Amino acid sequence: MTIVAVFNQKGGVGKTTTALNLAAALERRGRQPIGIDLDPQAQFGSIIGVAARTGDDSIYSLFQRNRPLREMIRKSAGGISIIPAHPELSKVDALYGKGYNAINKLNTSLQAEKAGNMNTPWIIDCCPMVGVLSLNAIFACDGIIVPISADHLSIKGAMQIAKALKALEQVLKRRVNRRYLLTRYDSRRRMARDILLIAESEFGADVCRTLISENVSLAESPALNKTIFEHAPNSRGARDYDALLDELLADRFIE
Ligand SMILES: Nc1ncnc2c1ncn2[C@@H]1O[C@H](COP(=O)(O)OP(=O)(O)OP(=O)(O)O)[C@@H](O)[C@H]1O
Ligand SMILES: [Mg+2]
Repeated sequence: MTIVAVFNQKGGVGKTTTALNLAAALERRGRQPIGIDLDPQAQFGSIIGVAARTGDDSIYSLFQRNRPLREMIRKSAGGISIIPAHPELSKVDALYGKGYNAINKLNTSLQAEKAGNMNTPWIIDCCPMVGVLSLNAIFACDGIIVPISADHLSIKGAMQIAKALKALEQVLKRRVNRRYLLTRYDSRRRMARDILLIAESEFGADVCRTLISENVSLAESPALNKTIFEHAPNSRGARDYDALLDELLADRFIE
């Protein structure tokens, strides 16, 4: 059971696109992943047609009343299992955000799921903010994927995460496995090539060899409520996310 968090505090860098299509790529290979939407914007669930009607119907109830994760798992029409989010999640910081227990809640619950689900990958889509929700994802995960859309603000976000992880490792007492993933990459643009070079010099072997290209089918698919594999299975975007999964499996980032 590998738990992967997809996080960058910079907004719009491809976190949800990556969480969704990585889960879809795993599902196509029969790995039956479970997604967790930890973003009050609730886009992961809504793209695949799984919306929570109330906060209690969503991952919010983990924070509110320690509801076991397995009770909250729903299946999309396309066969992807997910625990959806709800806008009420935005209250978590103010209501439940004090102390180690608040930050360790998802970790504790996922550990309780481990026994029966050894082969299940969990993919957590985070919100663009450092707070109780994203810290829960980081505490719970075996590995973190940091998407970097090929621009300066998103690599700055990635550098801040590297710094925060360094501090957190004192508390966690382990190194958090990580991969920096270039998204929306257009090799014709000088800035994109520059950002790749900066990422390689900052993060070395932690940069994914797979680059996710700027691809119109990836941009279209959320509006059609489809994963890239349902919308355009022969597109560049589908090939890129499949190649990303190959790489993560080969490196045993996902087991
Ligand atoms: N490789 C790509 N090619 C083209 N468009 C993309 C690509 N990746 C993501 N997008 C588009 O960019 C926008 C932002 O992507 P996404 O929602 O995945 O980012 P995010 O990091 O989850 O955003 P937020 O921080 O708001 O949660 C979306 O409209 C998405 O469809
Ligand atoms: Mg998102």
